[in-house]
Amino acid sequence: MNEILKIIDQRRSTRAYAETPITEQEKALILNAAYRAPTAGNMMLYSIIDVTDPIIKERLVETCDDQPFIAKAPLILVFLADYQRWWDYYNLCGAQDRASELGVTNRKPQAGDLLLACCDALIAAQNTVIAAESLGIGSCYIGDVMENYEIHQELFNLPQYVFPIGMLCYGRPVQTETQRHRVPRYDPEFMTFENRYQRLDDAALTRMYASNNERLFAQGQPVQGALNFGQHNYLRKFTAEFSFEMSRSVEKMLENWQ
Ligand SMILES: Cc1cc2nc3c(=O)[nH]c(=O)nc-3n(C[C@H](O)[C@H](O)[C@H](O)COP(=O)(O)O)c2cc1C
Repeated sequence: MNEILKIIDQRRSTRAYAETPITEQEKALILNAAYRAPTAGNMMLYSIIDVTDPIIKERLVETCDDQPFIAKAPLILVFLADYQRWWDYYNLCGAQDRASELGVTNRKPQAGDLLLACCDALIAAQNTVIAAESLGIGSCYIGDVMENYEIHQELFNLPQYVFPIGMLCYGRPVQTETQRHRVPRYDPEFMTFENRYQRLDDAALTRMYASNNERLFAQGQPVQGALNFGQHNYLRKFTAEFSFEMSRSVEKMLENWQ
């Protein structure tokens, strides 16, 4: 394996950070990795918020499903799917009027544009993860930033066509984090198909999750009443309060976007 592949293979999420700050130079390198990521039509349909205010960090602990380690991260970047900038520029340029004159059908940013902007934002985010790792800086995604849309809208001053699709906490891992085992992945046979999608049958699904099931009941802490790994996951994640909130929040954002 070359160095880049080793970094990708060895990475794990870091949730406990050493006191050592991230230097301005390191931050610049991490951000440059975001900017150099592939981007649809070279439009850079995202913005990044560098959260430096400790009060905002503390607020994010609460609004992102009560995760205290967030406030302890030396660097927090929020990745915003952003169509506002292009939409404002189109308006500045009189694009809609000109389109009308030319007989071209006008439209506003729609669901497809949102998804494209989310792709851009997350691809940029993942580049920063690898860049940070290469500098000895760990990171952890916070998907819960999709929750509490109205609060985050106010907190970050977000206009209509901007949505926080992901947040990353970065910092050098404390020793216990570097010693933690890497979370295993599912067998590639269930993940990649040749030419056509293959829906897994009961036998394949049972095989796919068999080791999770074994580990959960050997050394894990199954949710009370769960009789297998599927039930455990459904009760712990899919029907958890944060999942309901995430769906509510995203629907609210979609209403506003459209
Ligand atoms: C979209 C996304 C959202 C995530 N949200 C959180 C989160 O809110 N809190 C957290 O501790 N980890 C979060 N993670 C990290 C995952 O839990 C982690 O990547 C997964 O358990 C695999 O572990 P690994 O990254 O160490 O390989 C998130 C990861 C992704 C990709």
